[in-house]
Amino acid sequence: MSVRHTVTVHDRQHGTVLQAELEEGRYVLEGFEAAGKPLPFSCRNGCCTTCAVRVLSGELDQREALGLSHELRSQGYGLLCVARVKGPLTVETQDEDEVYMLQFGNAFGKGQVRRAIPLEEE
Ligand code: FES
Repeated sequence: MSVRHTVTVHDRQHGTVLQAELEEGRYVLEGFEAAGKPLPFSCRNGCCTTCAVRVLSGELDQREALGLSHELRSQGYGLLCVARVKGPLTVETQDEDEVYMLQFGNAFGKGQVRRAIPLEEE
């Protein structure tokens, strides 16, 4: 019989709290989807950081999170698409592009590349 743990996600953008009982070793994103509680994602391969969260309590097994630096992992960030349940866990969603900019922002010569044409002119 597999051990299950309570995983809680505070979705700051929608002001909601999602919770699921997930088997140890299961991918968090996939587990929430199976429970009918989809979370933000894009690549599903641990590369784009769309699914990034801040860990409030507990730990993730994220040895497959190639797109997240060890520094950001040690600061408490995680990628739910490739993170496996290790025990009880509480996380909160990141601000838009927060982890992406923390990780890659200083690689841009003059900051983030902006649109040449404002959206309202298209
Ligand atoms: S969905 Fe892209 S890193 Fe998780």
